Amino acid sequence: MPSSFDVTSLASLDTSALPRIGRAVGRGSAHAKLILFGEHVVVYGKPAVALPLRAMRMRATAWREGTEPRFESDHYTGPLATAPEIVEAPRKAIEETLRAIGGDLEGLTVAVRGNIPLGRGLGSSAAAAGAIVDAVSRLHNVTLSGGEHFALVQLAEQVAHGKPSGLDALATTIPSPIRFQNASAVPVPVALDACFVIADTGVHGSTRQAVDDVRTSLERDNDSTMATIDALGELSDSAIADLETNEPRSLGARMSQAHELLSKLGVSHPALDGLVAAATGAGAFGAKLTGGGLGGCIVAVVERGNASAVASALQSAGAIQTWSVTSTGTPL
Ligand code: MEV
Repeated sequence: MPSSFDVTSLASLDTSALPRIGRAVGRGSAHAKLILFGEHVVVYGKPAVALPLRAMRMRATAWREGTEPRFESDHYTGPLATAPEIVEAPRKAIEETLRAIGGDLEGLTVAVRGNIPLGRGLGSSAAAAGAIVDAVSRLHNVTLSGGEHFALVQLAEQVAHGKPSGLDALATTIPSPIRFQNASAVPVPVALDACFVIADTGVHGSTRQAVDDVRTSLERDNDSTMATIDALGELSDSAIADLETNEPRSLGARMSQAHELLSKLGVSHPALDGLVAAATGAGAFGAKLTGGGLGGCIVAVVERGNASAVASALQSAGAIQTWSVTSTGTPL
């Protein structure tokens, strides 16, 4: 059943993992991210633009109980030692954080819960890792620097994605929109008077697979793949100018152009193409896939007054969920 963004669902998340009263507890949380431009090409040193989606979060709680290390989540609850592959990246975040701060696994329970859908290009893996790093370090009363936190999330992201650019690790912690390139970020002063509608195809996309596919096409056909990567990189910087000078039509045209180029790179999916067409058919200025692709979500730039009509059209076209946010990522 399609549904729109519901902030009240956050309240129930806080009660999800409750260690016994009186125990020392470490807590952490990180939010989702929305890549507006530059996914994939950021891996090759091109610029990207991303927004925080602060109402969608992963929250982690860490405490010690008994002797056996345990993990709790909606997907697996049980001993860490026998956790399935889906827990590999969170396990790396736990182990590397303990190594960095000089702690051990004995009796450690880490619980992670949140409302960021997994495998949809919204940063669930980086947000889960970031929340875990904070929860485990705070349980030990250790305050990590931003750089230490980033490095630990990147180690977990290497398990999830292979060779991450660092965009997700950073974009899941930032308070406002950024331009990101070569592991460093600057704020983007967004003045856009329009909003973004995000829609989930319901198809689980593999970022690792998509990143591998782009690398393979670069190896096979370097000149034309590099030309597509260059064109996408240039779109990121032109889009920043649109965001800063309030040019929603021009931004939309660039988003649709970026979707075409990302399709050429081989990271789209028929369900993504269908939602992009539905968004523009319903009056969006433009739309594109967001994140790793091969499934996951699209983002459309839309006149504020038209957001609910575009969201309805996306739901009719098969989106399992939509979220409407301002041009800086706050829920509408
Ligand atoms: C995934 O959210 C973003 C990609 O560009 C990968 C990365 O930056 O590491 C596809």
